[in-house]
Amino acid sequence: MNIVEIINKKRENKKLSKEELAFAFNGYLEESVKDYQMSSLLMAICINGMSDEEIFNLVDIFIKSGDVLDLSEIPGIKVDKHSTGGVGDKVTLIVGPIVASLGVPVPKMSGRGLGHTGGTIDKLESIPGFNVNLEEKEFINQVKKIGLAVTGQTKNLCPMDKVIYALRDVTGTVASIPLIAVSIMSKKIAGGADKILLDVKLGDGALMKTREDAKKLADIMERIGKFYGKEVMCEITDMNTPLGDNIGNALEVMEAMDILKGKECFLRDLCVDEASKMVSMSKGISVYAAKEEVLETLNSGKAYDKFLEFVKYQGGDITKLSVSNHVMDIKSTKKGIISKIKALNFGILSVTLGAGRVNKEDKIDYGVGIVIKKHLNESVNIGDTLCTLYVKDLNININPNDYFEII
Ligand code: URA
Repeated sequence: MNIVEIINKKRENKKLSKEELAFAFNGYLEESVKDYQMSSLLMAICINGMSDEEIFNLVDIFIKSGDVLDLSEIPGIKVDKHSTGGVGDKVTLIVGPIVASLGVPVPKMSGRGLGHTGGTIDKLESIPGFNVNLEEKEFINQVKKIGLAVTGQTKNLCPMDKVIYALRDVTGTVASIPLIAVSIMSKKIAGGADKILLDVKLGDGALMKTREDAKKLADIMERIGKFYGKEVMCEITDMNTPLGDNIGNALEVMEAMDILKGKECFLRDLCVDEASKMVSMSKGISVYAAKEEVLETLNSGKAYDKFLEFVKYQGGDITKLSVSNHVMDIKSTKKGIISKIKALNFGILSVTLGAGRVNKEDKIDYGVGIVIKKHLNESVNIGDTLCTLYVKDLNININPNDYFEII
C-alpha cells in the first residue's frame, strides 16, 4: 500500500477500505505519513466526503489509537456534552460545574480551538497552572472525588484526534461533516460516558452553515453513538451571533464565572437548558424537574463553588487569570439599531488578535480578545463603543461595519 495511491483514490472520489484508512491515519500518528500527505488526504475528504462505512471505520481507527476509559468504578450515570464549535462558546465551563454540583458525574474530553471557533482546552489553559493533560487514573479519580474532570486528548486518550485536529485547524480542513463526526464521536466514546448531549451549532459563526448540514451531522453522530451503545441527545442551536459578550480565552473564563455568579443573559438561559437536559438524562427525571434543580444550584452559588473546586483540583490558580492591558474601543460610525453581530468575522478577528492558531506551532495569547458592548436590537449613536478589543499591540485597524450591521 502506498499513501500517494490512497490520496489519489480519495481525490477521484472513490471509497477507501478500512485497511487503507488505517494505513494512512495510523501512519500519520506513527510519523511515516507526512504532514503534507495527510493535509492532502484531509482536503480530498473535505471535498469528496465519506460514505457511512468509511466514517464508521475511521471512528474505530481513532478510538483504537488510544484507550477506551472504563468508568464503571464511578457510581451513577455519567453524562458528557459536546458542542460542534462556535464563537464565544464557553458553555462547558458553565454547564460542567452546574451539573456536577447536582451529583451528576461529568467526565469530559475536550479539544482546542479549531479554525475560527474556540476550544475549551485553550480556555482552561488560560488559567495559570491548569493541567489539561490528565492521565487516565487521575481523570477517573477526579470524577469520583469532585464529579467533574476536563482533559484534552493525551497519549492514552484518542491521540489520533489530537494530531489530526491540530492539522485540520491550520489546513482549511475543519468544515467537513465526516471529519467533525469522527473527531467528536471518537473522543466521546473513548471518554467512556454513558450518555452524551450534542449541541450542533448552526449559522454564520458555526461550522455548519445550513440546517440541512446540521441535521446530517446530528444524524450521523447519533448513529455512531447508538452503534457504541450510548444514549445520544442532539440539539441544533443558533450561532449567528457570538455566544455571550466575551470572545478570547481568559475573557471567556471570566464571563463563565460571571454567569455562574448570577449574570442574566441569553447564554445563561442556553446553559440552564443544556444542564437541565444532562441532569434529566442522568437522573431519569423530567427536564422540567431537572431545571428546578439547575436553577437552585445556580442561584445558591453551589455551581460557582464547584467551578472553583474543579479549577483548583486541576492545578489552576484563578486569582492569576489575566487579560491584556492594551485595550481599544471600537466606536460606531452610524446611528441606528444593531441588526446583526457577525459571529464569523468576530471569530476570525479573535484568531487574528492571537486567541487562535494560524500555524500548528503558534502559541496562543490567552489574554487577547473582544468584549461586545452593544447587543442585537439595541440602538446606538455615532461614537458609542460597540466593542472593546484586548490586544497585544495597538497597531490594529478595524472597520466596525465589518462586525456590526446597523440599520
Ligand atoms: N469539535 C471537535 O471536537 N471536533 C471537530 O471536528 C469539531 C468540533
